[in-house]
Amino acid sequence: MDFFQLRNGEMFAEDVSLARIAEEVGTPVYVYSRATLERHARVFREALEPLGRVHLAFAVKSNPNLAVLRVMRREGYGADVVSGGEMARALASGMPAEDIVFSGVGKNAREMRQGLDAGIGQFNLESEEEGVELAAIAAAQGQRARCALRVNPDIDAGTHEKISTGKADNKFGVPIDQAVAIYARLAALPGLEMRGLAMHIGSQLSDLAPLEAAFTRMGELIAELRANGHTVTHADLGGGLGVPYKAGEVFPSPAEYGAMIARVAKDWDVTFMFEPGRVIAGNAGVLLTRVVRVKRNANRTPFVIVDAAMNDLARPALYGSWHDFEAVKPRGIRMTGNIVGPICETGDTFATDRETDALEPGDLAVFRTAGAYGATMASSYNSRGFVAEVMVDGDRFAVVADRILPEEIYAAERVPEWLD
Ligand code: LLP
Repeated sequence: MDFFQLRNGEMFAEDVSLARIAEEVGTPVYVYSRATLERHARVFREALEPLGRVHLAFAVKSNPNLAVLRVMRREGYGADVVSGGEMARALASGMPAEDIVFSGVGKNAREMRQGLDAGIGQFNLESEEEGVELAAIAAAQGQRARCALRVNPDIDAGTHEKISTGKADNKFGVPIDQAVAIYARLAALPGLEMRGLAMHIGSQLSDLAPLEAAFTRMGELIAELRANGHTVTHADLGGGLGVPYKAGEVFPSPAEYGAMIARVAKDWDVTFMFEPGRVIAGNAGVLLTRVVRVKRNANRTPFVIVDAAMNDLARPALYGSWHDFEAVKPRGIRMTGNIVGPICETGDTFATDRETDALEPGDLAVFRTAGAYGATMASSYNSRGFVAEVMVDGDRFAVVADRILPEEIYAAERVPEWLD
């Protein structure tokens, strides 16, 4: 469910025509729908609130735009961050420090201090080494860092290998068979307040079964830790719920997810923490682009060359991901095309042999479900700059990130005088 719909033959974001945004802001441009973000934030919350004490932390990596974070904050969400930069953004958007959870395998000493100084709510420790380092830094500052231990349950999430995180050979979390011993050693350090466990087995999950298996193991661990005299007040169940990228695909709903957790975790007696990203932001955004040219070669599929490229939306090039592609003003005629960007490599392909609305040079089109892991994964490859981002709210819209021009990027570069 989203608010990008055809109205009188033309695609709108809520009550604003995409053609108007293209006219005023130019293309390519990411367009987010506030109403869609809010709807997903509420549906997710309502599905999980029956569990009791619940803390929702939006995965900032999925869409770190300050306006998006502000919407999430207004919906009562905190933030799941994985770098000092994301932490700074979450704080800049007005999120209270205590609502921030810091995950990630490579937190460095500077980032640990940044989190301690800000007073963030929880560090999710990904290794014993990290816990020992954080304990020393916190103790030196006279603090105790609130922590959960991230456990790797060695479960195949059944998703793309590049976004699977819960297998034993992935870099995330501590091996489940060592978790009790590591927890005990970390809990003995004066700089740490060990308060629970965390898991996140992967992203774009299409099936609840691997999650259920992982949470079942977490339940067993909680019982074992408590039996050993440890305090466990928090269980962070991560993010990962997938969304349909292709019209007609069906994914587990937040309600089914909530019901599964209610069954598996009914006597955990903890504060449940969640780190959803894609399920909130995914289809709350589109990448609006203009057709530059249609290149026809005899006996071959024509190339529909658009002004967006793999640097703006990396998912198809990186993971072979599908994004629905639709004309903003469909003519009611279909064509088969290879949808490509202008970048000088064959990987700059959004879709091959795609049946799509017939398109001509100058036409506008959208890649759907680009609200998560879209703008945030952009690069400036081929010196293309960074595209603008717009948020629509009813019949109004605002530019929530300026387009960054190539000149602005190379302004940070220097040619040393010895090259004169
Ligand atoms: N929590 C942790 C610890 C994570 O690593 C992630 C995602 C999330 C939460 C949020 O997961 P979500 O609810 O959005 O599935 N760039 C890839 C996705 C990478 C996800 C990385 N971790 C993509 O475009 O599909």
